[in-house]
Amino acid sequence: MFDVDKFVKETVNKLRGEIDGKAVIAVSGGVDSTVCAVLAHMAIDKNLLPIFIDTGLMRKNEAERVEGIFNNLNIKIKVINREDDFLSHLKGIKDPEEKRKIVGERFIRNFEDEARNFNAKYLIQGTIAPDWIESGGGIRDRIKTHHNVGGLPENMELKVVEPLRDLYKDEVREIARYLGIKNWERQPFPGPGLSIRVIGEVDRTKLDLLREATEIVEIEIEKAVENGQIKKPWQYFPVLLPIKTTGVHGDKRAYGYTVAIRIIDSIDGMSGTYSKIPHEILEKISISITNRIPEINRVVYDITNKPPATIEWE
Ligand code: XMP
Repeated sequence: MFDVDKFVKETVNKLRGEIDGKAVIAVSGGVDSTVCAVLAHMAIDKNLLPIFIDTGLMRKNEAERVEGIFNNLNIKIKVINREDDFLSHLKGIKDPEEKRKIVGERFIRNFEDEARNFNAKYLIQGTIAPDWIESGGGIRDRIKTHHNVGGLPENMELKVVEPLRDLYKDEVREIARYLGIKNWERQPFPGPGLSIRVIGEVDRTKLDLLREATEIVEIEIEKAVENGQIKKPWQYFPVLLPIKTTGVHGDKRAYGYTVAIRIIDSIDGMSGTYSKIPHEILEKISISITNRIPEINRVVYDITNKPPATIEWE
C-alpha cells in the first residue's frame, strides 16, 4: 500500500537536504508538476520559482487556468510567453522524436535563462515512472522519448531533481487529493503538448484548428460524464492528421483536414483500451467539430488499444 502521509513528509525532508539554494520548477497545470511544485514549495518556500512557459503548444486559455490553480494554492508563479521561440525551432520538422527533442531542449534553454536571472542551480521536474520507463531505461526498448526525460540536452547547467520518479499516476493523484489540490481529476496532457497531436509539421494555423477541436472534445465528453452517460475516460482528445480529403459544404466541394478522436480507458497510461463511447456522443462531437471548424470536414474514431498502439499518435 502506498502511504501518502509518509511519502509527503519524507519527500519534503529529502528536498530540503538536496537543494542547497534556489530552484526553478516548470509547471504545466497538470497533476504531476502541480504536486511537485507544492512539495517543493513546502520544502524551500521562497527559494522556489515556479514558471509556466506558454509554448504556443497548449490548449485554449491554459495560462490563465494554471495561474488560477496556483492562486488558489497561494503560490506565486511566473508566466512567460515563448510561442515564437518554440514554433520557429519546430519549423520544417516532421519526425516525432525530433519534435520531442526540440520541445524538450527549448524548455530547458528557456528555463536556464529564467534560472540564471533567479540565481537558481536546480531544476525540479514532475517526471513519473511511465515517463522514463517508456523513454528506455536500460532493459526496456525505447518506445518514445518523453520530452521531460530523453529530451534533456547533455550539456545542461541546471541539476535536475525529480521527486516523483518512482510513482505512477494514481499515486500522484492520491497525493494531490491529500494536499488539497483541486485539479487532480484533470486528464493527463503530454509535455510536448499539441506538437505531438499535429501529425507531421507543426504551424500556428494547424495548432489553432486543433485547439478548437480539443475544446469541443473536452466539453462534449465532460458533459456526457456529468450527465452520467459515460464514466470519465482516462484521456480524450483529437489528433490533426496531415491529409486532406474531399467533402461538401453547402453545395460546394470542400477539401479539408481530418481529425482522429482518441478516447482511452486506462489505470496508469501504461496500457489501455479504446473507450466504447455511445455513438450519439461521438456523432455530437463530429457534428460540432465540422460545424464550428470549416477547415475540418472529416472525423474518425481510433479503435486501437494500447498495446499495440500508444495513447498519443506520435
Ligand atoms: P503513450 O502515448 O506513450 O502515453 O501511450 C502514455 C501517457 O504519457 C503521456 N505522454 C507524455 N507525457 N511527456 C509527458 O509528460 C511526454 O513526452 C509524453 N508523451 C506521452 C500520454 O499523454 C499518456 O498519458
